[in-house]
Amino acid sequence: MKKIVISTGGGDAPGLNAVIFAVVQASHNRGWEVYGSRSGYLGLLDHDELIRLTPDMVADITSMGGTIIGSTNKGDPFAMPIENLAGQVEIHDVSDRVMKTFDRMGFSCHIAVGGDGSLEIAHRFATEKGMPVIGVPKTIDNDLLATQLTFGFDTAVSTATEALDKLHSTAKSHDRVMVVEVMGRDSGWIAMNSGISGGADVILIPEIPFDIRKVCDKINENELYDKNYAIVVVAEGATAVDHDVIHKGEGETGRAEVVLGGVGEWVAKEINRCTGKDTRSLVLGHLQRGGSPTTFDRLLALRFGATAVRLAEAEQFDHMVALAGDEMVAVPLADAVEKRKKVPIGGDRVRTATEIGISLGADIVI
Ligand code: F6P
Repeated sequence: MKKIVISTGGGDAPGLNAVIFAVVQASHNRGWEVYGSRSGYLGLLDHDELIRLTPDMVADITSMGGTIIGSTNKGDPFAMPIENLAGQVEIHDVSDRVMKTFDRMGFSCHIAVGGDGSLEIAHRFATEKGMPVIGVPKTIDNDLLATQLTFGFDTAVSTATEALDKLHSTAKSHDRVMVVEVMGRDSGWIAMNSGISGGADVILIPEIPFDIRKVCDKINENELYDKNYAIVVVAEGATAVDHDVIHKGEGETGRAEVVLGGVGEWVAKEINRCTGKDTRSLVLGHLQRGGSPTTFDRLLALRFGATAVRLAEAEQFDHMVALAGDEMVAVPLADAVEKRKKVPIGGDRVRTATEIGISLGADIVI
């Protein structure tokens, strides 16, 4: 009998619970046991935070957002922030403690569900500590190169598109420019897909540094055919030419990345300055991470979970499950964490956007 431990790390994404359901059910059907490690690796650091997951506990979670075992983006066991007696935070490598719990519990495999950061940690455990690890890709940003899609992305895009649909009527009623900031740290997939589908006039993504004058030109051009309002979608990681990324100051303790946010407000102010039009900005933020996963995300998550158990059975460790065409495949974790998946400038989305009159804030030559 195998004993599996599953963890969910990084920002949550709709579909995590569907992965957990599939892992528990597919393992149970093989006569195996599954444990959930609370908040990423916490359960593997503190035995009390390990939860035995049984089919009755997961019976109705597939359609639920979030993750029943919790998640964190501050829990890297190779660099864990720990408060000393004087109240100061020190960074410690506690990876050996994780391995001790793993071995003491008699686990035969760790299924690590996460984005680039969590999968990188999982890969380190596999290569440096010999932990039998299988990765499952998760991120609403869809920025993992080794899989065609990640679950959570479709739900996030649907939420953003619905928001854009609703903004048209109020923007039109007031002759305003509405600037909508969506998630997307390094990649503009959410902005691109929702912006094209939701009728945006301008889409700004991290892959294409934008010139604010070109954004204003597009909004002024709208007036030529009596369209007195505009919708601008901007990914949180988008930058203006000659400007750095706009963020909210230093990162939180134990977290490698800065917390992004503010570019939408900046763009709205600049548009007001150069066009004289009334502007409003809003940040969709964590709404995009919440709620019930779409059918597409549920199915993808369930297939990922079932495939991860298949890989555990075949002992194909240090690999990640991935979608290739309509097939489930296994890719080495090393390839999965190597680099991020960007919106291709020469790709069809960029081409479609420009052909249907959407400005990307830059001159695009395809
Ligand atoms: O990686 C997913 C993501 O949604 C990013 O787009 C965003 O920058 C980040 O998570 C936000 O994280 P937090 O929940 O810590 O603010």
